[in-house]
Amino acid sequence: MPANRRNFLKYAATLSTLMATSPLFPFSNLIATSFPTSNDDFWEGIRQLYPIAQAELTNLNSGSAGTQPLPVQEAVQMYYQLSNELPLYYAWGKWQDLRNQIKEKIAKTHLCDTNEIAFVRNTTEAMNTVIYGLPLQEGDEIIVARHDYPNLLGTIRQVCERRKAIVKTLEFDLPIEDDNLFLEKYQAAFTSKTKLLLLTHVTHRQGQILPIKKLTQLAHQNGIEVMVDAAHAFAHIDHQIGDLDCDYYGTSLHKWLCAPFGTGLLFVKKDKIPKIAPLNVALPPDSDNIEKLEAMGTRAYHLDMGIGAALEFLERIGIERKQKHLSFLKNYWTQEAVQLDRLRLHTSLKEDYSCALATFSIDGLRAGKIKKHLRENQQLNVKSVGLPDASAIRITPNVYTSTKELDRLLEGLQELIKK
Ligand SMILES: Cc1ncc(COP(=O)(O)O)c(C=O)c1O
Repeated sequence: MPANRRNFLKYAATLSTLMATSPLFPFSNLIATSFPTSNDDFWEGIRQLYPIAQAELTNLNSGSAGTQPLPVQEAVQMYYQLSNELPLYYAWGKWQDLRNQIKEKIAKTHLCDTNEIAFVRNTTEAMNTVIYGLPLQEGDEIIVARHDYPNLLGTIRQVCERRKAIVKTLEFDLPIEDDNLFLEKYQAAFTSKTKLLLLTHVTHRQGQILPIKKLTQLAHQNGIEVMVDAAHAFAHIDHQIGDLDCDYYGTSLHKWLCAPFGTGLLFVKKDKIPKIAPLNVALPPDSDNIEKLEAMGTRAYHLDMGIGAALEFLERIGIERKQKHLSFLKNYWTQEAVQLDRLRLHTSLKEDYSCALATFSIDGLRAGKIKKHLRENQQLNVKSVGLPDASAIRITPNVYTSTKELDRLLEGLQELIKK
């Protein structure tokens, strides 16, 4: 019997026992006993907990969303089943406490307060909640960069147009391997009218890591608030939200944490909560209770409950170990790929400036053609990204990616270049 199927049956068999004991994270015992202790087998053991063996393609686009490990999928199924037995009874009852305990766990790791964390559906919702809720006035400025996420830039432009505020867009020639280049350009753009700086922690096209803490300090010295788009940073890059000292921070938990699809987090610094007007008014708009920012009527509570299992899973791996392994996987294929004729890498290979996400192009070949070749010949799913000067492909491995799969990528690239 395939290992994945064996694991699945093992989880199913223990489900009722675990439910009977009803711990906060129903799969924590299981996760603990399932992880191999020998380092050599560690990553193979992790891979076995992801039900991907039967997939039509190998996913090298984990940047868009991560696959959830079995313990997370099982937790979601269990909570969904309970939701259906008594709709909203648990969600409005004892799950409220559990939900808070999940937030407490995040707050403890991230050196912030439980009442600074809201659960939302994704980064888009987290960021939009802040942008629409800020008391922006005519003439106020928001500073953004061309490499920030396009939909987010669209929302900022729309809000600014309505409020007669100004959006200043900076251009950076990525990849950059010098913090000062960021610091100097942002500093030069600040004026007395600048109210907000949008920073993307890890950019979605080139996987560029920005020096967020230094930039936040600089912005604060100039009386400017900072909003961090951490869609690709949370559970990927080892950091603590509290340590960054930003005012607003949003992320999608379904990306690097491998939590259920449609789960995200919004952090708002305690003293800023009252001034953010909620989109849905379930509490007084000027309340300092962060829950006002997650009010959206009836929601998929079972998904939020699955975040607990994803956090447990990450804890068993350890964020430091995970980041190191993701860096190893990125280096594994990029170091070979850069030797290839006509192949250009658009991502830094330095640890401080990139981690798992890396992007390349091949002179004379459109990204669509590369993507098609890799799908049809190597059964790989990759993402095309448009760069100012190249039609490129982004490769994003995750903890369930094997080096054999990356060998297939390299084989495909060699074929394409020889053609
Ligand atoms: C940098 C960045 N911000 C925001 C988002 C939006 O994430 P979501 O679709 O989960 O809201 C993405 C999606 O890939 C992203 O890469």
